[in-house]
Amino acid sequence: MKKTIIFASVIATMFVISKCTGPKTATKAPETKEESKAPSNSLLEIANKTWPAATVASLAQGQTIYTTKCNKCHELFPIVGRSEASWKHEIKDMAPKAKLTAEETDLLSQYLLSARQVQ
Ligand code: HEC
Repeated sequence: MKKTIIFASVIATMFVISKCTGPKTATKAPETKEESKAPSNSLLEIANKTWPAATVASLAQGQTIYTTKCNKCHELFPIVGRSEASWKHEIKDMAPKAKLTAEETDLLSQYLLSARQVQ
């Protein structure tokens, strides 16, 4: 009986420790989140095919909108792996939830629809 209790508390302790040292702390800073892609020349190249006026700065604005306004109700979703149609649908749904202006919605779309193509 005593052995069972000791065994159970060892397991419980291991569980608590693993919870505390989980990946949560490593993904705190928005700029290190793998869900977001830092604006780069390859990202700009992709963006310019659809938005000739996009710049590294405008993509950075889009990234900031994504990492600061889209994580209020849930964690950020991975950008890569969602189809263009699905992102367009989500942006339309979520922009009002995040209270984005038309301009912010545009910057976010340019960023997400380009970043989803960066591997
Ligand atoms: C006010 C809260 C709120 C904000 C702000 C918000 N979301 Fe959401 N989001 C939700 C809820 C609730 C769901 C799940 C239900 C749904 O799809 O409506 C969701 C679901 C999603 C999904 C997943 C859909 C799926 O099932 O695969 C994506 C992607 C998403 N949000 C993206 C965004 C983006 C991008 C932004 C920033 C513009 C954003 N969200 C801001 C509440 C929010």
